[in-house]
Amino acid sequence: MTASDTLSAQRTGVPVLAPGHVWLAGAGPGDPGLLTLDALAGLQQADVVVHDALVDQGVLALAGKQARLEFAGKRGGKPSATQVDISQRLVALARAGQRVLRLKGGDPFVFGRGGEEAMTLAAAGIPFRVIPGVTAGLAALAAASIPATLRGVNRAVIFAAGHGAEENFDWAPLARAGQPIVLYMVMHNLERIAADLMAGGLAPRTPAAIIAAAATPKERVLVTTLEKLFADAQEQKFEPPAIVAIGEIVDFRSRLRGKNVTAGKPRKEHK
Ligand SMILES: C[S@@+](CC[C@H](N)C(=O)[O-])C[C@H]1O[C@@H](n2cnc3c(N)ncnc32)[C@H](O)[C@@H]1O
Repeated sequence: MTASDTLSAQRTGVPVLAPGHVWLAGAGPGDPGLLTLDALAGLQQADVVVHDALVDQGVLALAGKQARLEFAGKRGGKPSATQVDISQRLVALARAGQRVLRLKGGDPFVFGRGGEEAMTLAAAGIPFRVIPGVTAGLAALAAASIPATLRGVNRAVIFAAGHGAEENFDWAPLARAGQPIVLYMVMHNLERIAADLMAGGLAPRTPAAIIAAAATPKERVLVTTLEKLFADAQEQKFEPPAIVAIGEIVDFRSRLRGKNVTAGKPRKEHK
């Protein structure tokens, strides 16, 4: 019996991905070990897996032999499918009677435009199910031995995107909240956002970390302060995909580092 069979036996069986249905599932940050059992069940049953660029090859390798893989993200500067194209493609595949797994990096409803896809499916009357995934913000903190919350230190965590539709976003209220901030998609605007957070009241010496390619063989961690964040990232050539964590919680890494056996564990490369 496989581990997956053993775990499935603990519940009422494996959920069925029916023809004409779409499962909108999170693939987690990279490591296939962070996939949910239901996402794995979807991979094994799907006729077509529509996936983003950030879905790890090791995860895609778990698709059943019958599954066709369709790429629906940005790659190598080539024009990417628009969000409307992707949503309409899901509708068309479902209407053609396919079992469709829409697989997105991390969690489908966290900065992944999964909400828009779900709304299109709902409007088109396509039966769908949302399967959560381990979002990169939490996976990156765990990989870097940074607790997301600590009693007596913080009672909230702010997840924010460094890039979005509203470029005039006001960072000052987030700076004033006095709670850790976890930033997605921030590397291209890092200098400006770090400056805005300091202008909004965050101390320049606030601890900060960058975790790039978390839960993949390319994982790297940089620990610094808010005032040095951009310069250090440039100097050490940190690139997307990366999560930036800002706040006192980052300091606790030094106490846990080297003792957290899951952080930086060796992983097999997937060909
Ligand atoms: C379009 S958002 C998708 C977020 C995803 N839905 C989630 O819940 O993690 C892409 C951003 O997620 C972050 N990200 C995704 N995978 C990552 C990883 N393995 N390590 C670090 N950051 C990652 C980066 O900030 C990247 O720019």
